[in-house]
Amino acid sequence: MRAMQIPSDHPLLLSIVDDLAERGWSQQDLFLPAALTRELAAECRKRAADGELAPAGVGRGTAQQVREGIRGDHIQWLEPGQAEPCDQYLALMDSLREALNRSLYLGLEDFECHFALYPAGAFYRKHLDRFRDDDRRSVSAVLYLNDEWQPQEGGQLRMYLADEVERDVLPTGGCLVVFLSGDVPHEVLPATRERLSLTGWFRRRGDEPF
Ligand code: OGA
Ligand code: MN
Repeated sequence: MRAMQIPSDHPLLLSIVDDLAERGWSQQDLFLPAALTRELAAECRKRAADGELAPAGVGRGTAQQVREGIRGDHIQWLEPGQAEPCDQYLALMDSLREALNRSLYLGLEDFECHFALYPAGAFYRKHLDRFRDDDRRSVSAVLYLNDEWQPQEGGQLRMYLADEVERDVLPTGGCLVVFLSGDVPHEVLPATRERLSLTGWFRRRGDEPF
């Protein structure tokens, strides 16, 4: 078991917090050591080969539907204790959660994430990561798991920022993109090859029912 506990005041995490405070999004091209990125990619491919990834739905709970005209990725949610590289990533995200709570007072309570595999040609149309009936998702974090991605291969994450600025990010392995879930509309453009990622959300406490 490798110890890779990153303290919540690590400069990398603090720069993500600063970016979010200033402009609502952050891109870290080298967030993970290459070895951990490779292990996470291998874990995603293994789960796909074992048939564990399922077509992703749109919407929440019983209203959820598979609609490939909106999103065409296949996903599997991560649970703690399944695989060491996944647990390392979850530990890192927990440090980021602490950093966000300490500086931005977001009251983030947990982090949920899933592997996502977009087959060649699949896309996810422009959307916000916040459900109409559940606004607990506050901060989105997408980690990419692909070797040597070329711009002509497509598959960009396109973020629609303030002042009609669009920002495209290539899904290159080890790159992490973090943004405010309720503020940044975004889409995934179709690619000419399979596209792997680990996509997650920090959630704040829900309202207590009376
Ligand atoms: C999502 C999403 C972006 C990406 O799963 O909600 O927008 O780049 N993913 O994979
Ligand atoms: Mn999204």
